[in-house]
Amino acid sequence: MNTSYTHKNVDRLSYQIREIVEVAKHIETLNPEMNITWENIGDPIVKNWCVPGFLKTLLKEEIDNPTDRSFGYAHSRGIPEVRAWVAAQAQKMSPSCTLDADDVVFTSGLGSAIAIMYQMFDAGARVLLPSPTYPTHASFEAFHAGREPLFYQLDPENNWQPDISSIESQLDAHPEIAAILIINPNNPTGTVHTKEVLEKIVEIAKKHGIMIISDEVYFRMVYDGEQHVQITELAAGRVPLIVMRGLSKDIPWPGGRCGWLEFHNMALQERTLQYAKAVKQRILMEVCATRLPQQITPALYDHPEFPAWIEEYNKGLEDNAHAISSILSTSPYLTVNRTKGAFYMMPLFKEGMLKPGQTLPIAHDEVRKFIEEKVADPDMPLDQRFVYYLLGYTGICVVPASGFYSGRSGFRLTTLERDPKKRDATYTTLVDAIDRYVTSSV
Ligand SMILES: Cc1ncc(COP(=O)(O)O)c(C=O)c1O
Repeated sequence: MNTSYTHKNVDRLSYQIREIVEVAKHIETLNPEMNITWENIGDPIVKNWCVPGFLKTLLKEEIDNPTDRSFGYAHSRGIPEVRAWVAAQAQKMSPSCTLDADDVVFTSGLGSAIAIMYQMFDAGARVLLPSPTYPTHASFEAFHAGREPLFYQLDPENNWQPDISSIESQLDAHPEIAAILIINPNNPTGTVHTKEVLEKIVEIAKKHGIMIISDEVYFRMVYDGEQHVQITELAAGRVPLIVMRGLSKDIPWPGGRCGWLEFHNMALQERTLQYAKAVKQRILMEVCATRLPQQITPALYDHPEFPAWIEEYNKGLEDNAHAISSILSTSPYLTVNRTKGAFYMMPLFKEGMLKPGQTLPIAHDEVRKFIEEKVADPDMPLDQRFVYYLLGYTGICVVPASGFYSGRSGFRLTTLERDPKKRDATYTTLVDAIDRYVTSSV
């Protein structure tokens, strides 16, 4: 057999958050004196956030548990008592919610949940995604559909809130849309959706008889006077809803690989009941999700030290959001929306600022040649081109906005830096580099 047997949709899988790492690593080998500043990936451990002592204690206690239970398989859908805890938590946060332990499934991280969720939609059923979006959602959706992803717009002129008219027009144009995805708080923009916007999305979903998927992996990470509104409360009895949560972000343990899906209000439609059943059946095929983090999840979030931890974490993120947005706002070439939740920011280049011939004067010969080879691709988006030059010139590693399926040029950074001096120096250097890059074509 000489014909290719690789899946025909493989090119639809794109994850520039990690792809840029290969470029940065190569620059490090070409110029060992270059220190890379990793602002590409949302991993608190990489940015020196300490693992709270109470998490380590709970882990040690669990490992020493005489039953050795965490070394064995768990129930395929998750440890029953832990699922019951998830259901009780959901009810505590949203009194109208009727979630039951059987409506919860654990996965080995939400990345795995995302892959499974899109796989279990029929190829003809589409999910309407926000633009910009977290690339794993768009990649898997498009991979299974075998078509370009369908987007509604988050509006940078309105603090990145969803543009309701773009949701409505996509639904009118595409009756094949089965669900709308919300990422709230949002990666990559750092926005937190308002109650009014969420209520409108629920109304629209009800009108069209479709489901909502709400990725809330950052739901505890909200600050700057904002509040996370429980969509479970708005959707109760009205719209089928899948909520996605996990341990990767609000406790710094992304390597633990632990997330879960909550299936709310599935009985409202026969087809959502069937879909939830299909996801559970698919999960059965993996025997079970990572057990150790699951086992300690209730003790972790119910721990008396957790509230102080999350408060300190959010305070640090809020300070960073203020400092970084103030520095970046001094650039006349950028539009900056301050982060209000999660730990990302997506500054955009003002219209027409990026042009194909722009450069930065990279002093190191081999690095310059390497970057010039990379950007020689005429199809490379202009913001990716900028990000490559920035990396070669300063060592600052951010991700182009185009990698998040954004219709506008910009970049995404993380707001996790712990050292205020380093943070301020990084973003001051970035502003200077932008100035140099943009004016290089004049
Ligand atoms: C919006 C969003 N959903 C899901 C994930 C995946 O999280 P996990 O570490 O649980 O796979 C991420 C990770 O960055 C994310 O930003």
